[in-house]
Amino acid sequence: MDMMPFSIDFSYMQRVVILLCVVVCTFKITSLLMKRSNMVRHLKSFPGPPAHWFFGHALELKRDGTEFEKTLAWGVTYPFAFPVWFGPFLSILNIHHPDYVKTLLSSTEPKDDIAYKFLMPWIGDGLLVSSGQKWFNRRRLLTPGFHYKILKPYVKLMADCSKLMLDKWEGYSKTNKLFEVFGPVSLMSLDNIMRCAFSNNSNCQNEGGTNMYIKAVYELSDLINMRIRVFPYHSDFIFYLSPHGFRFRRACRVAHRHTEEVIRKRKEALMEEAELERIQAKRNLDFLDILLCARDEDHKALSDEAIRAEVDTFMFEGHDTTASSISFLIYSLASHPQHQKICREEILQVLGDRETLDWDDLNRIPYTTMCIKESLRLYPAVPGISRKLTKPMTFFDGRSMPEGSYIGVGVYSHHRNNTVWENPQVFDPLRFLPENVSKRHPHAFLPFSAGPRNCIGQNFAMNEMKVVIAQTLRRYQLMADPARPPKVAARLVLCSLNGIYIKIKPL
Ligand code: HEM
Repeated sequence: MDMMPFSIDFSYMQRVVILLCVVVCTFKITSLLMKRSNMVRHLKSFPGPPAHWFFGHALELKRDGTEFEKTLAWGVTYPFAFPVWFGPFLSILNIHHPDYVKTLLSSTEPKDDIAYKFLMPWIGDGLLVSSGQKWFNRRRLLTPGFHYKILKPYVKLMADCSKLMLDKWEGYSKTNKLFEVFGPVSLMSLDNIMRCAFSNNSNCQNEGGTNMYIKAVYELSDLINMRIRVFPYHSDFIFYLSPHGFRFRRACRVAHRHTEEVIRKRKEALMEEAELERIQAKRNLDFLDILLCARDEDHKALSDEAIRAEVDTFMFEGHDTTASSISFLIYSLASHPQHQKICREEILQVLGDRETLDWDDLNRIPYTTMCIKESLRLYPAVPGISRKLTKPMTFFDGRSMPEGSYIGVGVYSHHRNNTVWENPQVFDPLRFLPENVSKRHPHAFLPFSAGPRNCIGQNFAMNEMKVVIAQTLRRYQLMADPARPPKVAARLVLCSLNGIYIKIKPL
């Protein structure tokens, strides 16, 4: 009698398919194991914190705002560099010393294919993620978009946007209650980049979050953030089948439709006007004009897809980063009234009877500029940068990593490395006095990265920070509650898990 509860009869084809699957899986697992053992061999010269064989360090780097404390502590024990494992097969060599960082950032090694890959369905193969000759040509074409002549008229747009935000803060100034700043600052910076990049008065600060495009941009940032953190979502297949993947595709469609529409309308308008000089006589040139009029060496214009990728890249890079930097700057000055006072005196002296800074004033506020830099040191909006090596890389001390390795610059821990910065946790703007800067390694301070892939928008961002903080300090006294410090965490940009709260008093 047959004791088997059931039996499965495989056809010949089914057996072949199963066999093939087994062969492919075995091949994949073997190649992953070989890659791992190769990596472990190379990482022997880089001692680091003990890792679980399967989870690596994933269990220790929790998402509860303690991950930076962990990496800072590891940085003290393992100077220069240490490996971090995410699961059994993925390791990133975390570097946090200027001599190491110099080697990596002076190279033209491409961005990693993990985090940056998740951005691509939205921002395409634009300047931030592209590599090689394509990146080089694009960077050359876009650099004129950040010339001072283009940036100069933006100062007025920046002032208009921050005035709108500060007007809304009048209510808080009367109640003496704590309020959260990241939300309104983020809307303001989005409004600002929309005005500068598209000459589009989005009105998003007054719409109470109803603008479809703005909603899509927020949703995309959130979902990409989540995808980086949720390991199974690293698989395109699983992510796209999930409800989050569905929302992501929908938000991408909304964002792309909006950008395409803006480009189409501008193209039509440009056809009538034809030349940049003629447009400039009528209104400010914006990034979109620069993109539409850019020509390569064969006088060929950028394709519509390329223009869309660059506009979406500016929208992504140009709003969250500045929002994070401005919010932490406001918090830093609220927590350090002595520095806030000096900045205010300096700003009021430059402003006289005027409400806002002009272009020429931007270089006349050295103390405020040092406070901005110190805030960017303690709270770098881009807390990590990474690359995947296409060839072996040897560092200054002779240690090296092979082709295919991932190397990450932990900007947050780099800026708090106690072998480079004295009392690194202390807010001390005088570190940025020229005589102190000249004593430091040129790669010690990296809020905008360094080398060929540094931030193309850094002057734009610095101008925005100066304009906003000058207007804020002119109108309000900022106060922090020591009982409510931000829980700093790395998301797409540096953020606070419990918000950034301050109180204000009218002046
Ligand atoms: C305080 C604000 C900002 C900070 C802290 C910041 C920081 C950075 C950093 C660290 C990088 C290098 C990223 C990497 O290597 O992976 C970068 C690249 C870039 N940033 Fe910014 N950024 C800011 C504002 C802006 C603005 C306002 C724009 C545009 C309007 C912009 C556009 C870009 C672009 C296009 C790249 C890629 C450049 C290239 O690879 O050639 N950024 N930024």
